[in-house]
Amino acid sequence: MMMSRKLLLLLLLLTATAAMAFGQNCIRRCGNIDVPYPFGIEPGCYRDGFDLSCNVTESKLYAGNIEIIGMDVLNGQARVYKRISWDCHDPIAPSKESIAMDLTGSPFTFSDTRNKFTAIGCDTIALFVGSTDQSYSTGCVSICNDNTTFSNGSCFGAGCCQTSILPGLQFFNITFSSTGHKDISWDNPCSFAFLVDGSWYSFRTTDLNETDFYDRNDGRVPMVLDWSIGDVGCEEARQNSTSYACRSNNSRCLNATNGIGYLCNCSSGYQGNPYVEGGCEDIDECTDRNTYPCHGSCTNLPGSYLCACPKGMRGNPHEECFPSSERSSEPSSPDPCILFLFLIFE
Ligand SMILES: *[C@@H]1O[C@H](CO)[C@@H](O)[C@H](O)[C@H]1NC(C)=O
Ligand SMILES: *[C@@H]1O[C@H](CO)[C@@H](O)[C@H](O)[C@H]1NC(C)=O
Ligand SMILES: *[C@@H]1O[C@H](CO)[C@@H](O)[C@H](O)[C@H]1NC(C)=O
Ligand SMILES: *[C@@H]1O[C@H](CO)[C@@H](O)[C@H](O)[C@H]1NC(C)=O
Ligand SMILES: *[C@@H]1O[C@H](CO)[C@@H](O)[C@H](O)[C@H]1NC(C)=O
Ligand SMILES: *[C@@H]1O[C@H](CO)[C@@H](O)[C@H](O)[C@H]1NC(C)=O
Ligand SMILES: *[C@@H]1O[C@H](CO)[C@@H](O)[C@H](O)[C@H]1NC(C)=O
Ligand SMILES: *[C@@H]1O[C@H](CO)[C@@H](O)[C@H](O)[C@H]1NC(C)=O
Ligand SMILES: *[C@@H]1O[C@H](CO)[C@@H](O)[C@H](O)[C@H]1NC(C)=O
Repeated sequence: MMMSRKLLLLLLLLTATAAMAFGQNCIRRCGNIDVPYPFGIEPGCYRDGFDLSCNVTESKLYAGNIEIIGMDVLNGQARVYKRISWDCHDPIAPSKESIAMDLTGSPFTFSDTRNKFTAIGCDTIALFVGSTDQSYSTGCVSICNDNTTFSNGSCFGAGCCQTSILPGLQFFNITFSSTGHKDISWDNPCSFAFLVDGSWYSFRTTDLNETDFYDRNDGRVPMVLDWSIGDVGCEEARQNSTSYACRSNNSRCLNATNGIGYLCNCSSGYQGNPYVEGGCEDIDECTDRNTYPCHGSCTNLPGSYLCACPKGMRGNPHEECFPSSERSSEPSSPDPCILFLFLIFE
């Protein structure tokens, strides 16, 4: 009796572990945001270091205290919200807030390709200190006078300034300094600075309004983080089949382009989640003629497709098939049927 109960427990335990490993009962959505593996919320549902939390009352997803607003598993990117740094030279009540962000020890890195360090203001020197030992900083300056003309969409120093950041950064601290240039009749004493998704932010002259910009955005802006697996490149990672993250058949490995580690993707002709066993599934190209044009008969193949003009027709089946008799005056090959096989190679 004792024996069988132990056995039952063991069996239950084994089943539970198996279910966890396959992630069958894992929460894969928080609010309206997808939570794809290697990320996860409950223990057993994420790869080590990729744990997130979901606040169900707010319907918000977090990595530590960072709010995540989007996850792109194929490009190894996450979109997050981050608070705006500000500095108001109000003569009566000067106030400021410097925002720092530390991703050290996490799989995240600030995206150097998607983000821009941005400062808004008219007496603004904003510094972006990009490492804890202050070995890297960059900055943005915007100075105006009564004759400065501002224009929407223009961020070249007249009220707005933008600059790029180094790749591989996991820390920043944004601080301000002043030109001491106070003799303008401009009535906005505030400067703002933030690292922001460059495709999201576009300067508007109204952003120079003391409260407008901050309030309109609830004091925060979207930023893009890159993430990657581990701290070695693909060749080395493949050596350990236990920890190698590209689990699916028909997946491939790519060295991270920002920082260290690697990313997985599905091979060409496959789609899905390469981090999950069996995650990369064959694309049926024949059902999507817009992306994979075929004007003849289409046959789906694993990882590719075959498109051919029907019997008695010829031409380029991806553009047009026409009866073989047409253009018979041409001194062309006697082949009654031309096959075009489009194999997609990696
Ligand atoms: C979820 O968010 C609410 C509202 O902001 C907060 O009061 C609560 O403490 C949060 N819950 C957890 C588990 O963090
Ligand atoms: C992964 O493949 C998808 C689909 O082909 C592509 O859109 C994406 O950019 C690829 N990701 C990387 C990191 O190359
Ligand atoms: C603005 O332009 C006017 C006319 O050109 C000039 O007289 C004035 O000094 C300028 N103001 C500043 C602050 O440069
Ligand atoms: C810039 O756009 C805002 C509205 O988005 C408008 O109120 C403002 O007048 C525009 N400024 C200029 C200089 O066109
Ligand atoms: C950011 O810079 C400010 C001003 O130099 C400093 O007071 C603060 O401690 C820094 N924060 C971090 C986290 O380094
Ligand atoms: C700044 O914004 C406030 C509140 O939206 C508005 O009342 C005020 O007219 C704006 N000032 C300017 C100079 O646009
Ligand atoms: C990937 O990165 C490792 C070092 O991290 C390097 O040795 C290797 O050559 C890289 N592979 C490719 C294909 O770039
Ligand atoms: C392979 O990865 C696993 C899991 O991370 C680890 O426990 C093991 O020590 C690694 N093996 C080698 C040979 O590095
Ligand atoms: C992956 O491919 C191997 C070898 O081709 C095969 O044995 C295995 O069943 C495949 N796994 C899945 C999940 O399709």
